[in-house]
Amino acid sequence: MDITSGTRKIIVAIDGPAASGKSTTARLLARKLGYTYIDTGAMYRAVTLKALEAGLLEHLRDNPDDVTSLLEDIDITFEGERVLLDGRDVTAAVRENRVSRHVSFVSSLKPVRDKLKQMQREMGKRRGVVMDGRDIGTVVFPDAELKVFLVADASERSRRRYVELVQKSGGSNNVPPVEELEQEILQRDRSDAGRAHAPLRKHQDAVEVDTSGLTIDEQVALVYNLALEKTAV
Ligand code: DC
Repeated sequence: MDITSGTRKIIVAIDGPAASGKSTTARLLARKLGYTYIDTGAMYRAVTLKALEAGLLEHLRDNPDDVTSLLEDIDITFEGERVLLDGRDVTAAVRENRVSRHVSFVSSLKPVRDKLKQMQREMGKRRGVVMDGRDIGTVVFPDAELKVFLVADASERSRRRYVELVQKSGGSNNVPPVEELEQEILQRDRSDAGRAHAPLRKHQDAVEVDTSGLTIDEQVALVYNLALEKTAV
């Protein structure tokens, strides 16, 4: 507890379905609070990238238990907003479509979830973190002082994803149509919510925020105010 300023450091857990605004909200909130932002989706993506690079993905679909060999000495760290896999900057690589296509499968494997949960708990043990994902409030930090569950209409989420991809690729040439993105998002919702281990669901104490009609500034301000209530001592 930081007695001098009358505030204490907390954990903010932000969960919700794909493209609901989690990472944007979490990143900006962390900046405003002076906290560390931990993008747990990037960690699942990093494991997926490692499996792809090892040429193991197809093998794992038939032999899922073999994933443990990949996890033994894996190192995933954050440097500011960059993610490092075994010391290498993979911030851009983990966003590639080949990773997105396989990440739901890799994140459904229990040894992967157990390993990343342990790493995430270690990263948050001194508090002062904003962590976003699917199971942060329910499984990783059920004692997080503030749990937020972000939702948004599927059409709004696919529109946001479309704009993000166009911006990233500098034009709409190789970007799939919005309708296709919406189908991908709905498919990912189904597998994230339907899996056996740590499925996406809202913790009973989580505050649900529907971001469909909100600007980014509005959603950040809303969650920031919730956080301030929890940090005041
Ligand atoms: O938020 P994202 O799109 O980067 O997440 C990538 C995938 O990782 C997503 O399909 C579900 C999975 N994930 C998870 O299972 N648990 C988390 N805490 C974060 C992400």
